[in-house]
Amino acid sequence: MALLEVQNIHGGYGDNTILNGVNIEVMENEMVAIIGPNGAGKSTVMRAVMGMLNIHSGKIVYAGEDITNLPTSEIVKQDISYVPQVANIFTDMSIYDNLLMGGFLNSESANKKALQRVFDFFPDLAQKSKTLAGNLSGGQRQMLAIGRALMLTPKLILLDEPTAGLSPKYMKQIFTILDTIKKQKIAVLLVEQHAKQALGYADRGYILTLGKNRHEGDSDYLLNDPEILKVFLGG
Ligand SMILES: Nc1ncnc2c1ncn2[C@@H]1O[C@H](COP(=O)(O)OP(=O)(O)OP(=O)(O)O)[C@@H](O)[C@H]1O
Ligand SMILES: [Mg+2]
Repeated sequence: MALLEVQNIHGGYGDNTILNGVNIEVMENEMVAIIGPNGAGKSTVMRAVMGMLNIHSGKIVYAGEDITNLPTSEIVKQDISYVPQVANIFTDMSIYDNLLMGGFLNSESANKKALQRVFDFFPDLAQKSKTLAGNLSGGQRQMLAIGRALMLTPKLILLDEPTAGLSPKYMKQIFTILDTIKKQKIAVLLVEQHAKQALGYADRGYILTLGKNRHEGDSDYLLNDPEILKVFLGG
């Protein structure tokens, strides 16, 4: 059974329709990449899953339950964490306080455990836990944003362009962390501009254009189709 099923959703902002029939599945413990040109609706799909969009038709099913148009506050209780493309940390708070905010639904003892887990993932954050998040580098901010999302011990994590603007070194570090997250039995749905690299780590991928599925399949298939390679993966 799929953990997450996005079934033929149509929807958008107000009356403005952006998604015109998107279908996405994420199995338990799977890493899935969504790629496609700017404006294709990739971030909008993630917002739809998180209950931040008007869905006119279609369904979103999580762990067998219909979560379509549930309020975001209910969706975060379903073991789904979301790292948005922008504004994903509180810059005027310390690393430590950002992480505590991420664990707002936890009991105190669960928070302690979660903090330890996140600091094991990101030793750099542990060393600097009193530092203001606004003083971190781009790569460190992304690690903090992912760390925050891990505070709730999710079964599924949605990451919108976690490597945007990062140096190749930080990019590789983030992808390695995603691989580790997957090995801990957390499913990952990832939006990425670095399409080839993302498919190198993901099990499967979806290519969206104009708010619709365009291509989908195993990463190996997408990476080896000459037409897809040329048009969507930068040759
Ligand atoms: N808050 C909003 N209100 C109205 N329209 C929006 C809003 N956010 C995005 N859109 C529109 O929805 C369409 C899809 O945007 P979206 O952010 O989902 O694209 P994307 O595939 O994530 O692009 P990018 O690669 O640039 O991040 C765009 O035409 C955009 O202008
Ligand atoms: Mg986007």
